[in-house]
Parts: sequence; C-alpha cells; structure tokens
Amino acid sequence: MKDVIATSTPLKVALLGCGVVGSQVARILITQADELRARIGRPLELVGIAVRDLAKDRPGIDRALLTTDGEELVQRADVDLVIELLGGIEPARSLILAAIGAGASVITANKALLASDGGSIYAAAAEQGVDVYYEAAVAGAIPIIRPLRESLVGDEVLAVKGIVNGTTNFILDKMHTAGESFPDVLAEAQALGYAEADPTADVEGHDAAAKAAILASLAFHSRVRLSDVDREGITGVTLADIEAAREMGCVIKLLADCSLSPDGSIAVGVHPTMVPLSHPLASIPGAYNAVFIESRYAGRLMFMGPGAGGSPTASAVLGDLVTAARNRVRGAIGPGESAYSARGITPSGEARSRYYVSLLVEDEPGVLAKVAACFAAHGVSLQAVRQDAGDGGAGDRARLGVRTHTARDADVRATLAELEQLPEVGPGITVMRVEGR
Ligand code: HSE
Repeated sequence: MKDVIATSTPLKVALLGCGVVGSQVARILITQADELRARIGRPLELVGIAVRDLAKDRPGIDRALLTTDGEELVQRADVDLVIELLGGIEPARSLILAAIGAGASVITANKALLASDGGSIYAAAAEQGVDVYYEAAVAGAIPIIRPLRESLVGDEVLAVKGIVNGTTNFILDKMHTAGESFPDVLAEAQALGYAEADPTADVEGHDAAAKAAILASLAFHSRVRLSDVDREGITGVTLADIEAAREMGCVIKLLADCSLSPDGSIAVGVHPTMVPLSHPLASIPGAYNAVFIESRYAGRLMFMGPGAGGSPTASAVLGDLVTAARNRVRGAIGPGESAYSARGITPSGEARSRYYVSLLVEDEPGVLAKVAACFAAHGVSLQAVRQDAGDGGAGDRARLGVRTHTARDADVRATLAELEQLPEVGPGITVMRVEGR
C-alpha cells in the first residue's frame, strides 16, 4: 500500500466510466466534498475520469477531468482509489488489475467480472495489500455485500434467496397485476427505460446469475463462479403460469437461490419460482430488489430497496469509497476474499426443491392414478393435486396441477420424461419450482 501522510493531503480518486452511475458518483464527490472529508478524515480529490466519448455532454462535470486513456489514469502513482464502473470483462479486468498493481484500492460494481474471475482480482489485491469493495455489484443500493462479508461473518449462513434483477421483477409483477403477457410487458418496460433494448442479460437470468455467484461465494466462504449457477430466465413464463401460481396462493418471482445442500455442497440457481404470499419476497413490487437470508443464529433477515439507477447505485459506490478511504487513512485494509471453506457445487440434477407441474390429460378413469404412479416411480412425493375440468374447449381433457414435496431435480426431470410418453398426457407439460419446504 502507498504511504499516507498529512491529514490535509487529498486521497486521489480515479473514475473509470461516466454513465448513469459514474456521473452521479462524480457529482456527489464534488457536492458532498466537505461531508466526505469529515467522515474520512482527509479530503477526496477526483483526479480523472476515463470515458469513451470526450464530446458527450456531462452537466456538472469538469471536462478537464476527462480522458480516454484509462490505462494511463489507473497507473498514476498518486492515485489511491480507483472506481470501476465500465461493466463487462475487458478492459475492466485489465484496468482493475493495473490499478491494484499500482497500489490503488478498487471499488467496482462489475458483477459480471467478479462472478467470472473475481478470484484473480481478490488474489492480486491481497498480494498488494489493497482493498476491493463491490457493494454496488449486487442489488444496487441495498447493503448486502457488507452484511454478508462483515456483519454475519460470525454466524453460519444457511441460505440466501434474492430478487436481484429489477427488470424481471417489474415484468413479472406487471404480468400478475395487469394480466399482460411477457412480450407486452417487456415492450412496455423497454419504453419506460426499465429494460434494455437488448434485454437478454436480464430476461434470460444472466445478470441475476452473476449476482447469485457473488452472494453464494460470500455466504458460504467458497469460490462460486457464474458457470456454477444453474440458470433459467423468465421468457417462458406464461399468463397460465401466473394464474396457476395465483390459485396456489403464490406469485412468480425470478429467484436467485443460494442454499446448502444436505451433503454440504452449494446449490446455486436462478429460476422463475412460485413464492407463497406468506414469504417476505412475495411482496416485493415493481423494479425493487430484495435479499432474504437465513442464518443459524440471527435467523431470518430481509434486505429490500432499489436495485439499480444512478443515485441508488452511486450511494453504494460512495459507501465503499468512504470505507476504502478510511482504511487508507488508518493504513489498514478491510476483509479480503474468504474462500477457506472451498465447498463443492451441487450438480443441477441433485438440487432439491418443491415443484409445480401442470399437464393436460384425458379426463378418463385411471389417468390420475397413472400420472401419480409416474411421480411415485421416481421417488417424487405429491403434496397436492388440483384438477380443472376441461381446457377451455376440449371437453374430454382436464388440466392437472401437481405440487410436489421437496424432490431432486433429476427425479422430477425423469418423471416429466416419462409423463411425456403417456398417451393420456397432452403436449406442453410445464414445471416450475415452488419456494419453501
Ligand atoms: N439490469 C439490472 C436490473 C440492473 O434490471 O436489475 C443492473 O444489474
């Protein structure tokens, strides 16, 4: 770590990226300078902002700070703190490693990078004796990294379940409340600016999966990567699924679920999940995020708030910045990666959940028994079965909604494969996880 001396000497800050969040961070650094100085014990000085386009209008930001040479900026010997808000893997990864190599502490919101290659960044930081803080990488403004990394570090976390993507929560919530289909609500979300023009990262669950990997790593003191996350998006969720959930007293949420399996391995997945209305996560509206933690000693904890947006995300970045700056002033560093537990990842087929299976069957004697026998043959125990007469036209068909007790994913898949072969079962069997035990 670089030497730090006089209390009036500013700590120098470099910012990589000046988009919605970066520009807000820069403005707060300027407008809250006195408060931040008082909280840190030394002033912060923004010495440079790396951007792609120098000509873009950025109200309130001194053009003299802008540069297109991020590499030169992070390698400046006088920079103490580098804030990376570029997103994506490169050049963010190289710039962060260069900043660490030059002795700066790093604050980043880059979930994709941390989820795919956090290990090498944490290792480089540990070797250099600098900090890496990343509160803004998961669930925007919600304090969730620090609670897991510090507040609960003496506890034993058993599960972390979260709604960590605002776009998909907005879409699912609207499907429930307005009865509009996925494509219609997506188009609306895009028009309102909630969803990107290319919504793939959100609606296919990639964004939530990166956040799940980061949460699982912290919760279980193990290295969990994006590729470890069993991922499913919300593009296949239909209004019929929404209605089935409603009839069961549930809402559908895209749930990031990080739990310990009975063998001690980590089951980490992102799936559309039916969440009972009695669960705290069921009531999270619109684009909000929330994270629910179950721990051995603290019990059940819930964190809720805005998961994206310029000011909320900037709040998380500034919190990290002040913390890293305080550490510098004290000549200390905060907690680094804790991966001592090195737990394995539960193979996706071994993951356990309750499930809801919906199928169209011939309304004949013995069909229900045949369907039930398929579940039984694979060791899947039924919790409830509901039958709706007819499917809105075909009078000889009935819709069966089967809710299972907790079962292995592979057993449910095998059941579905067998059900598909039954002549009495129509095409289009749907399956969804149900939260709870
Ligand atoms: N696109 C994300 C969301 C925000 O919709 O929540 C950034 O991770």
